[in-house]
Amino acid sequence: MVVKELPEVWRRRKYLGDVDQSLVGKSVTLCGWVQRRRVHGGVQFIILRDGTGTIQVSIHKDQVGKRAFGEAQKVTLESSVTVEGVVRTDKRAPGGLEVSARDVKIVSLADTWPIQKTAGKVFLLDKRHLHLRSPKVKAVMLVRTAVCRAIREFLDRDGFVEVHPPILISVAVEGGATLFPIDYFGKEAYLTQSGQLYLEAAITSLGKVYTMDPSFRAEKSRTRRHLTEFWEVECELPFATHEDAMKLEENLLTYICSYVKDQCEEELRLLKAKPVVPRPPFKRIKYDEAVRIARKAGLPVKWGEELGAEAERAVSTRFKDPFFIVGFPTVSRSFYHKPDPKDPKITLSSDLMAPGGYGELSSGGQRISDYDLLVKRIKEQALPLDNYKWYLDLRRYGIPPHAGFGLGIERTVRWICKLPHIRDACLFPRTPYRVYP
Ligand code: 4AD
Ligand code: MG
Repeated sequence: MVVKELPEVWRRRKYLGDVDQSLVGKSVTLCGWVQRRRVHGGVQFIILRDGTGTIQVSIHKDQVGKRAFGEAQKVTLESSVTVEGVVRTDKRAPGGLEVSARDVKIVSLADTWPIQKTAGKVFLLDKRHLHLRSPKVKAVMLVRTAVCRAIREFLDRDGFVEVHPPILISVAVEGGATLFPIDYFGKEAYLTQSGQLYLEAAITSLGKVYTMDPSFRAEKSRTRRHLTEFWEVECELPFATHEDAMKLEENLLTYICSYVKDQCEEELRLLKAKPVVPRPPFKRIKYDEAVRIARKAGLPVKWGEELGAEAERAVSTRFKDPFFIVGFPTVSRSFYHKPDPKDPKITLSSDLMAPGGYGELSSGGQRISDYDLLVKRIKEQALPLDNYKWYLDLRRYGIPPHAGFGLGIERTVRWICKLPHIRDACLFPRTPYRVYP
């Protein structure tokens, strides 16, 4: 492994994304990784990559001198190099431009690249720190970035305040079974499952709020849609109903899709994904109907259970556009969901579903703002009432009817990019069987 210090060269380097027609005939210094190399007619060609773009570099012996030509001959795939050369137009080069090298220096010589085209899934996950460099993984990460940018743009413009709820918490939001316990100086604390309860407090100070941050679930389910660490955007609205939350969800998802379609053409082409921008208002079906569809598909779903991965797949396969499932049973939902005053067996809550078998993207609804009802629901779910004192307090100090939702970032990216597995939507996925690398 050769590592040379060349800071003065790096300082004058141009990012590949900035190399365009205006630089034709000019000298440039480039830094990057060797994505491909070949030799043709005594000339060496390198495809150089630096994250912002790629460019072909041609290395002619008579233009670079013996030493640099020798360096180029030694260079291996994924080594990092600096190149000094002149920008030229070349119709045969990818992108129509190439750099004719005057000098090539190896900065860090890579060992033989361990990832072959035939590599299996597990091997690729073990080598995720290297596999990240593949154009497809990079494309997914760029779509993910665009999804997050779209979310921030949409909510910031709409007057939402971004807040940062704690990651270390003391109470369950989404059921005790999936809490990740940690030793907090001799006391038990947990990693957050959702920032929702804290967002409910924040609305009384800041009005409309959102957060985009990680959530953790000790869920041992081996499905294509579950991670132990994932990101959610969560919104909370004061003086609002379930209807208001659903309206926001469908407008937000529509904005995300149209933003990504607009900004990530190249990435979507590479991933062979053709996202369709949905049109609100989205269709709604009742939970009861979802259960009927799942049963018809041969799945033994009991009324009162959350729909499992299989049931969601069966139901969402029937749809071509995103849709809501409304009216989830009170027994199946977390303690904070407001029961429907007209039929307290069901809640004023919904799941936003992606079509085509992808299933749940977000969950939301109206929260209980009544003190006594909330106490009753906490007790019914056998949760430690004492730990929820502060949350109950909000019901003593003027909390109005309010509603909100949480949308999974990886689920959204998976659906937009049409990825086979949710882990493909993460830089370094965390699943029950993987915390490495
Ligand atoms: O449906 P969930 O559990 O709802 C909540 O956390 C609410 N407190 C949100 C709120 O109202 N503020 O999670 C929200 C979303 C899901 O719809 C799903 O997209 C994603 O987060 N999600 C997961 N993504 C990957 N792996 C998991 N294990 C996930 N659990 C939930
Ligand atoms: Mg949910």
